[in-house]
Amino acid sequence: MDLQKLVDDVLKDVEVYRGHGEVASYIPALKAVDPRKLGIAVAAEDGSVYCAGDAEEPFSIQSISKVFMLNLALDHVGATLWNHVGREPSGSPFNSIVQLEAEKGKPRNPLINAGAIVVCDNVMNHGTADEAVSEILDFMRERAGDASVAIDANVAQSENQAGFLNRSLAYFVSAFGNLRNPVEDVLSIYFRQCAIAMSCRQLARAALYLAFDGNDPVTRDAVTISSRARRINALMLTCGHYDNSGDFAYRIGLPGKSGVGGGILTVVPGFGTVVVWSPGLNSAGTSLAGAAALEKMVERTGWSVFV
Ligand code: DON
Repeated sequence: MDLQKLVDDVLKDVEVYRGHGEVASYIPALKAVDPRKLGIAVAAEDGSVYCAGDAEEPFSIQSISKVFMLNLALDHVGATLWNHVGREPSGSPFNSIVQLEAEKGKPRNPLINAGAIVVCDNVMNHGTADEAVSEILDFMRERAGDASVAIDANVAQSENQAGFLNRSLAYFVSAFGNLRNPVEDVLSIYFRQCAIAMSCRQLARAALYLAFDGNDPVTRDAVTISSRARRINALMLTCGHYDNSGDFAYRIGLPGKSGVGGGILTVVPGFGTVVVWSPGLNSAGTSLAGAAALEKMVERTGWSVFV
């Protein structure tokens, strides 16, 4: 398959959606992004990355970071993580608080905000918040093979200032005894992981190990154990898009994770990864043109976990 032609063709397919949807505005620093940006990157087993449009431009990865933090938390604490967070789709928006009361401060899954905050607590474990942030940043740099990956301090500060809902979630979870570290320390990790800036190219390369049973196919690093990589993919498929997860699985049929910066990471097991970026979002916080691009891509290739 000519992958360069594929990404070029898909970019043309979705030109009509460029600028559609709403750019996230509840984090002030995110609303400054040009809504007409549109990038696509496909990373293949040999590490080649095929790019089209704005695929080289760093964007705020936001909730996509939750996938990699989950990996680190499982590496730290193993299955005991599941005493603190569930593995079921929430059917609710990413920042919803409603289930937390009935479920006694145990978030439904690690990919909604409340769950991701619990994940941060487990990565922090007995260390400091700064150490946990260094760990995720070093992980992303190493996996991307690019030491220039960085946190956008402006976005991190904006997240913190606008973080009323996330604070509510974190204090609520803590009230049930489900955080062992100081709430503001845990939140400071979460705000900074969401503010990591990466391009489609860097992110596609970084996630490649998830398509190959936890092994980086280029460096041969055993990044994580195979069962863990498969389970992270299962959680992405069932929970990666909040109350839009069913629709995403139906339309695209691949494990994926959205972020309100407009990025979507998808994993094609045994083949590679696809990352799209376009800042206009649907009502569930998933990139509108990005999801359309993924739909066109699977139409053209037949990629699906259901073949
Ligand atoms: O916590 C927040 O609201 C953001 N930092 C991340 C939310 C997000 O990306 C939801 N994904 N679509």
